[in-house]
Amino acid sequence: MSRFDFEKMKKSGSKVTWVTAYDYPTASFAEQAGLDMILVGDSLGMCVYGYTGTIPVTMDQCIEHCRAVRRGAPSTFVVGDMPFLSYQVSVEEAVRNAGRFYKEADVDAVKLEGGVRVCQQIKAIADAGMLIIGHIGLTPQSSGQLGGFKAQGRTAETAMELIRDAQAVQQAGGFALLVEAVPPEVSKIIRDNLRIPVYGIGAGVDVDGQLTICSDLLGLFQAFTPKFIKKYENLAQRTVNAFAEYVQEVRNSQFPEEQHTYKMVDGEYEKLAGALLVEEL
Ligand code: KIV
Repeated sequence: MSRFDFEKMKKSGSKVTWVTAYDYPTASFAEQAGLDMILVGDSLGMCVYGYTGTIPVTMDQCIEHCRAVRRGAPSTFVVGDMPFLSYQVSVEEAVRNAGRFYKEADVDAVKLEGGVRVCQQIKAIADAGMLIIGHIGLTPQSSGQLGGFKAQGRTAETAMELIRDAQAVQQAGGFALLVEAVPPEVSKIIRDNLRIPVYGIGAGVDVDGQLTICSDLLGLFQAFTPKFIKKYENLAQRTVNAFAEYVQEVRNSQFPEEQHTYKMVDGEYEKLAGALLVEEL
């Protein structure tokens, strides 16, 4: 898939399917399932490392996880997520760090959080020849300023700010926009008024595609469940059950069974027994 496919999908009304993945196996499952896009989100800080937010996540961690995802999903459009302080300090740092995702992890695009306030960075990254996705609404890296992990754009005034942010991303050269935790009426206005594809996470159905965090979709993340999550599986409980069954079977000598063991070559056990009789151990 290329940016042109995503633009065509917007025009034809075909929805883009997008999940996060942080490792080789999950990425390969996503590719096997036919997902259009994978985001190696800095949500890996919470979903993989057990941090309470995304702030501690580093560039090196993001790059390493992008590399694993690329190996698992060689034919899927992979987006690297720029972590906190990898693009806010200066435009030069933003371009250099976006470039690291391309050079070191072979991503197809990068994403950063913000609208108006990061449009210089978006422009510079796009001018350097990279594909850049803006992310507005609930932006976890600035959740402190937003008063926590809360829905955004619920009043006319804050919705107008989001609409301006969305336009700023498009004008700066963003190739797509992600809108998070925003009422559906507002995301629809944004989607209808932008040429570039507008994807949503917790932004209702009237967008050009949906992103979901794999750990939420699969029921692996237990710390909290945002309102907009539909769990398609409960792998956390299934994993606990599998481990508990294993513990039980090992303790009762029910595992391993004969089918899990290697056989000696025919006649060799008897030879060994004879040898043991001769040689005292
Ligand atoms: O890091 C991430 O997974 C994200 C989503 C929450 C949109 O940015």
